[in-house]
Amino acid sequence: MLYRHYFSPIFPTRISVDVGFASQVISQPLNLTGYNMTITRKICLVTGCSNGGCGAALAEAFRDAGYHVFATARSPSKIPQSLHSSPNVTVLALNVTSSQSIAALAKEVGMQTGGKLDVLVNNAGLGLSKPALDTTIDEARKLFDLNFFGVLEMTQAFAPMLVRAQGCVVNNSSVGGYMAFPFTSIYNASKAALTLAGDAWRLELEPLGVRVITLITGGISTKFLDNLQSQPVDLPETSFYHAIKNDIQAQEETVPFGVPPEKFAQDVLRQVERGATGKFWVGGAACMTRVLGWVMTEWMADRVALWQKPFTRKLAMVRREEESSKKTE
Ligand SMILES: NC(=O)c1ccc[n+]([C@@H]2O[C@H](COP(=O)([O-])OP(=O)(O)OC[C@H]3O[C@@H](n4cnc5c(N)ncnc54)[C@H](OP(=O)(O)O)[C@@H]3O)[C@@H](O)[C@H]2O)c1
Repeated sequence: MLYRHYFSPIFPTRISVDVGFASQVISQPLNLTGYNMTITRKICLVTGCSNGGCGAALAEAFRDAGYHVFATARSPSKIPQSLHSSPNVTVLALNVTSSQSIAALAKEVGMQTGGKLDVLVNNAGLGLSKPALDTTIDEARKLFDLNFFGVLEMTQAFAPMLVRAQGCVVNNSSVGGYMAFPFTSIYNASKAALTLAGDAWRLELEPLGVRVITLITGGISTKFLDNLQSQPVDLPETSFYHAIKNDIQAQEETVPFGVPPEKFAQDVLRQVERGATGKFWVGGAACMTRVLGWVMTEWMADRVALWQKPFTRKLAMVRREEESSKKTE
């Protein structure tokens, strides 16, 4: 895409405009009542910026590239001090599963930016490791609220600002939306929904001059697994999976094939800056997963999943032993 930069006398912030939509954007009437319009840099908003995660690294990368960054998190105290103390960073609270919190943030950002946003990074998201049969519907809905509906609602709330800036939405999906593993089905499904919807949103937003990039993210060395492990796998005695409860709870100590979040953030920044749109495979083993997805049969994919989670075989063994001891009784 070809971009030109416009300076408007009534709109002092710089607007990056895809020339295909230039006349449409420049002629769009702006209601500037109540806007502070103090920020003259390009503007980026990142969700889920807690210390050590992808969000904090993305916020730092965009700040270092000259953007004004709105770094958000459920608890702003979890956002690294290096962001709190940066002059070109505004730290704000945001819970992406609360409509009220999203509306309040959109109002605040609109006031501070003159109603424009160049880049919205929907990064916040968590995992869930539990057998499907033991996951309550409430737990499953909550994960979809965070990983899918939160992204949709953020995009809706900031759409007027993104259209005005002819900006870009970046959604942090996962290779987990391509390849399913036992006991992470709800996470897999929420990311698959995000990836597929992202393809449609790209086509819906393109005529409005807004790009949509879907990150198919592989391993990044963050606290993702620690956060997963902090949720106890609460299986009732009656669960079919009770015998392997501890195996389900125990995760690898580090994210397999993890790359540093700073490297991931630079790769994402590069895609945004070069005007990319569509899916972008990024992070450890992401490209390998893509290639395996092309060449593997379902049988081969199952073998990989069982190799990753060998305790599903252990469960089969335990059940066989239980059956044979019942017969001998
Ligand atoms: N790490 C990987 O290997 C990997 C691979 C594929 C995809 N991803 C995706 O990358 C994204 C970031 O994950 P990460 O690796 O950086 O893990 P992380 O360190 O666990 O970060 C997750 C972030 O989401 C935030 N969050 C959770 N619920 C929220 C809510 N209701 N509202 C706002 N923020 C909320 C967390 O805040 P709190 O600190 O308050 O919980 C945290 O800041 C996720 O969407 C994840 O699915 C990661």
